[in-house]
Amino acid sequence: MQFDFTQLPPADRYRLLTNFIGPRPIALVSTRAQAGHTNAAPMSFFNVFSQDPPIVILGIQSRPDGREKDTMNNIRRSGEFVVNMVDMAMADAMILCGVNFAPDVDEFAFSGLEAAPCRQIDVARALATPCAMECRVERIIDYPNRALVLGEVLEMHVRKDCLDAQGRYVNPEVYQPIARLHADNYIVSDRQFELCKPAGMHVHEAAQLTPPQGSK
Ligand SMILES: Cc1cc2nc3c(=O)[nH]c(=O)nc-3n(C[C@H](O)[C@H](O)[C@H](O)COP(=O)(O)O)c2cc1C
Repeated sequence: MQFDFTQLPPADRYRLLTNFIGPRPIALVSTRAQAGHTNAAPMSFFNVFSQDPPIVILGIQSRPDGREKDTMNNIRRSGEFVVNMVDMAMADAMILCGVNFAPDVDEFAFSGLEAAPCRQIDVARALATPCAMECRVERIIDYPNRALVLGEVLEMHVRKDCLDAQGRYVNPEVYQPIARLHADNYIVSDRQFELCKPAGMHVHEAAQLTPPQGSK
């Protein structure tokens, strides 16, 4: 089947893009509301862009009536947010935070997430998260009814058991984030495997090799 994206209505583009671009990592984004309480919302239009500078990106849509979500309002006002990574233990709390609550609801308290302070920004992070990133807005690129937020990571908090003994690499037995697939379907990264490049093969050598049988 073919789908001409120049002709498709946005809702169909959304369905196809989110059905096939996945699993998408989930950022549970916490922000501070003007009244001081914590707002939290899951975002799967999320990824890391670069390490130098250390930038993460969020795609935040407006509500159907055109009003911006609380997360976006708080990010614009304060210029700060936390990305809390989500594992199975936090899945239920994450989905609760995805409910469209009134702006005066403390979504950490409502979903049962214990808050912990940040070091460089005035936003709460989730104590239970395997990894929290304190972010300062680097820039916001506005589109009609949505915005692309680029955040510079200022500090990362990693739960100790998620790292190896040297504190350098992730412990894949413990750190198993969940990710969003299509619609209400999610996946947990508990079936990891290693895939290594063939040892000693360089680009100029590869060009001279005969491709394996069956490949074009
Ligand atoms: C797993 C998941 C991923 C989501 N990803 C996004 C996203 O990337 N961008 C977005 O605008 N909304 C996303 N949403 C919807 C928001 O979380 C939802 O609109 C939320 O109520 C916004 O809360 P707020 O008004 O407190 O910011 C997602 C929801 C779920 C459950």
